[in-house]
Amino acid sequence: MLQSKAKIRLAKPERDAMRRAGQFNAQLMDYIREFVKPGVTTGELDERVHEYTVSRGHRPAPLHYPGEKGPYPRSCCTSINEVICHGIPNDYVLQEGDIVNVDVTSVVDGWHGDSSETFLIGEVSDEARAVTQCAFDCLWLAIRAITPNCPVATIGHAIRAEAEGRGFSVVREFVGHGLGRDFHQEPTIPHYPTRQSRRDRLAPGTCFTIEPMINVGVRQGVTDKQDGWTVRTRDGKLSAQFEHTIMMTEEGPEVLTPTKNGPQEGHQF
Ligand code: MF3
Ligand code: CO
Ligand code: CO
Repeated sequence: MLQSKAKIRLAKPERDAMRRAGQFNAQLMDYIREFVKPGVTTGELDERVHEYTVSRGHRPAPLHYPGEKGPYPRSCCTSINEVICHGIPNDYVLQEGDIVNVDVTSVVDGWHGDSSETFLIGEVSDEARAVTQCAFDCLWLAIRAITPNCPVATIGHAIRAEAEGRGFSVVREFVGHGLGRDFHQEPTIPHYPTRQSRRDRLAPGTCFTIEPMINVGVRQGVTDKQDGWTVRTRDGKLSAQFEHTIMMTEEGPEVLTPTKNGPQEGHQF
């Protein structure tokens, strides 16, 4: 769904609009985090995301977002345990030991902010903690590796080395993406190096996400035949993810979706 017509290198007023969208999305994440606890359903989290967003005059981008088997039915994604991404909120009750990624995307005055965090529900297994830590560290390593006009592949090199060094795998079927007036636009941001990403560069003014999905076992996923959205690991083992929206500036990367209360760079889960 990459739309090549979208403008990629933004000027000052557009950059400020992206800063506002990112800031709102981070506030939404800080709002929802206190509800991500044992006993809550993912459907309740979704209702809160929807209400918080629309009551402030903004729009949840996932709602009715087009997919191959029909539009996405909810306002955020909640991906539990072996779900890699695009889990649909429902009546599942979060329980001690689960890990759940909550991915929220807001449209503020026509501009997008997109971020996600994996939450540990109560005490979790060592393996669940380790894969969550790896996804978080991979995101921050990639942010710290990129510089103005560097190849997009700088991101993939940093993430692949770290994840595989810890014995985990990096998902390839789903990637980070440019965003702005469109939810998903150029450039494509793979979390492993590719021929195209060695050519593409992160020019100042480019806004994009980094959102590594890290698996305990094999990297491959399988999309649910019924709902057409939920992607699970092929081997049923755990998967974790973190996402920030980033703007490359003349000075270096600026994180547009930093939270007040979420895990900060260097956090140990
Ligand atoms: N927020 C996801 C991303 O990071 C995309 C979700 S698309 C949806 O790109 F339709 F599933 F919501
Ligand atoms: Co994204
Ligand atoms: Co997202």
